[in-house]
Amino acid sequence: MGPNHILPLSQEANERLHRLIPGGAHTYAKGSDQYPEELAPVIERGRGAHVWDIDGNEYIEYGAGLRSVSLGHAHPRVLEAVHTEIEKGANFVRPSIMEAEAAERFLATVPTAEMVKFAKNGSDATTAAVRLARAATGRPLVAICHDHAFFSTDDWFIGTTPMSAGIPGKTTDLTISFPYGDLEATDEVLRLHEGKVACLILEAATQQEPPPGYLAGLRQLADKHGCLLIFDEMITGFRWSEAGAQGMYGVTPDLSTFGKALGNGFAVSALAGKREFMELGGLRDDRERVFLLSTTHGAETHSLAAAMAVMDTYVEEGIADRLHALGDRLAAGVREAAAGIGVGDHVLVRGRASNLVFATLDEEFKPSQPYRTLFLRELITGGVIGPSFVVSSALTDEDIDKTIDVVAQACMVYRKALDSGDPTQWMGGRPVKPVFRKYA
Ligand SMILES: Cc1ncc(COP(=O)(O)O)c(C=O)c1O
Repeated sequence: MGPNHILPLSQEANERLHRLIPGGAHTYAKGSDQYPEELAPVIERGRGAHVWDIDGNEYIEYGAGLRSVSLGHAHPRVLEAVHTEIEKGANFVRPSIMEAEAAERFLATVPTAEMVKFAKNGSDATTAAVRLARAATGRPLVAICHDHAFFSTDDWFIGTTPMSAGIPGKTTDLTISFPYGDLEATDEVLRLHEGKVACLILEAATQQEPPPGYLAGLRQLADKHGCLLIFDEMITGFRWSEAGAQGMYGVTPDLSTFGKALGNGFAVSALAGKREFMELGGLRDDRERVFLLSTTHGAETHSLAAAMAVMDTYVEEGIADRLHALGDRLAAGVREAAAGIGVGDHVLVRGRASNLVFATLDEEFKPSQPYRTLFLRELITGGVIGPSFVVSSALTDEDIDKTIDVVAQACMVYRKALDSGDPTQWMGGRPVKPVFRKYA
């Protein structure tokens, strides 16, 4: 029986999704193009670290909700907070007291920030940070770290990707870039555009830990050149530590942005930062006002309740440590299995334990989408789904061990494909594709 017979209902639903929704999903990163042909399950429900597709298959899930669901699905503490709040109404004519309580809780959890404003999407928060930096400095250019994958769905960032259609070149010209980990090169970029760069925006860390002294050096560079330092903590926020990467590495940015894990799947993001800048968006400042994050749904009460429950859970239950322990167990097991089967230099696990990704290399040790297709196919048919090995705290040691077993099976097939010099017969169809590409 071929894989196309395994998921008939998902197959049918994928057809429907593509007929109705451009891209077949409301988020490109969930697209069927990133899954092996005829093996793109459509999800029916989730609980903890497990999901079930509409064909009735159960999977251990990684990278849930684009890394937002870090406590697992239907987390009891988060759900209880949401239920309680939703009974009282979701959105009023004036701020609810929840807005103050959630802001207090956030600033107690991320004590390096002095003010915070909530929204629904991370992209809105990073765009607001950029606008604020431009207004505060009176400068036009935004410098993004070009080693980081994503900052916003807005033009100032999407214009720099291969999917820049519809974005005027003039807009994209205002975004320049600098490399991660290289202070000298960044200094040079700032000198080249002296007096024109409003901000440096980057993730404090992603796949790479910051080199010693790097973040402090960046802080000094920003000060020397008079631009703002912005940490995009969409991924690092909570996964590195509940105080963010800024709390962990001890370097305070001018502004920072949070989302994803903050809501455990509920829609809530945050722009946080120094009062002197944040007040530009307020009513207690004489300077020209900045339109800073003002959305109809920004303070939806049950999402703020979810965020408060998430913050409490992280702090009281030591979630960041648990994520690291689970990730360490998984990374060690996968590395051992891959090495034992002779693919240790081809199936790689990288990144911080709380945010693991995998790389699939071909016979010449180059990143390979055909081998990724083979690997994903074996994972999915083995009952493990995810574009990464990004853990949630709901995983059990048994889940991790089962995942390692499935990876070991996948590695055996991988070895066979390497030996034959061609993975095609194990791909089940066309290769998976990256999200950002110019043509479908
Ligand atoms: C580092 C980073 N910044 C910003 C965003 C944008 O967040 P959102 O999808 O909530 O708009 C993402 C989302 O993938 C991200 O990974």
